[in-house]
Amino acid sequence: MIEDRPVIQLDNVYKTYGSGETAVHALRSVTMTVRQGEFVAIIGPSGSGKSTLMNILGCLDVPSMGRYRFAGEDVSRMTDASLARVRNERIGFVFQQFHLLKRMNAWRNVELPLLYRRVRGRKDKALRSLQMVGLADRVHHLPNELSGGQQQRVAIARALVTDPELLLADEPTGNLDTHSSAEILQILRTLHGSGRTIILITHDPDIAATAQRVISIRDGEVSEGVTLTVAHLSGQPVPTTARAPRRRTRRAAAPAAVDDPPAADPSTAPPTDAPAPGPRPRRPRSRTE
Ligand SMILES: Nc1ncnc2c1ncn2[C@@H]1O[C@H](COP(=O)(O)OP(=O)(O)OP(=O)(O)O)[C@@H](O)[C@H]1O
Ligand SMILES: [Mg+2]
Repeated sequence: MIEDRPVIQLDNVYKTYGSGETAVHALRSVTMTVRQGEFVAIIGPSGSGKSTLMNILGCLDVPSMGRYRFAGEDVSRMTDASLARVRNERIGFVFQQFHLLKRMNAWRNVELPLLYRRVRGRKDKALRSLQMVGLADRVHHLPNELSGGQQQRVAIARALVTDPELLLADEPTGNLDTHSSAEILQILRTLHGSGRTIILITHDPDIAATAQRVISIRDGEVSEGVTLTVAHLSGQPVPTTARAPRRRTRRAAAPAAVDDPPAADPSTAPPTDAPAPGPRPRRPRSRTE
């Protein structure tokens, strides 16, 4: 069944920073699968390897050892150009810092990922995406004219405008007050309800409980958590006019926007709060790096 198709398959993945006595084993023997349409939280304390894992899942970095398959394709066998395409077209990133361009209004920020390709109807797509997150009445506002929660909604709209196969959110409520956090989580639930595959990374058990499945990470090792009920997922009313796109046809290009003006290079990766990788993934020099 198409719905059961694995989007993410990690098989015995290791990530080691440095070597010798100072080596940090940030991920150890991580094996996990996320199927299409799942909403999975990855929870762990500071330093447990969450961002390292997110960087690998988002094709911003590569494992030192082990296999990562994205939508069935072995990422380690992809060329840099195909990796960039996966990153830019097939994964939507949402970060703790919203990473909106300050001088661009909401719809211009959302349109940005579409600028890298000859996508028709960019403005309409951007407006639809903003409507999905309940911001139809804020499309001309600059980021500093929006609340933190609204800025994060713009960032979610930007992540969705390319209709990615996976939405990857790293501490998306980390900079928000309780009310705005609840709104963002409700949007994620609504998106999940309409078929989106979502991975939410957090250190907060209450936030992780939003997801359908919880995977814990500790000292670089993952273990499967509880499965929550469907009732838990669909509970409250949606604070938006949100309807997630169901299109699965043409995919548009999309580096998530960064704090600099748009680069000509579509392989520019979104920023991360992780200390590790630069925009391009580094290939392991050896299997024991
Ligand atoms: N580029 C790097 N070089 C060396 N060590 C690193 C690098 N990036 C991360 N680490 C180490 O790897 C481990 C996992 O770090 P990671 O950033 O993935 O943790 P985290 O779970 O995201 O933490 P936080 O919740 O604080 O963001 C830590 O011990 C960290 O110090
Ligand atoms: Mg982190």
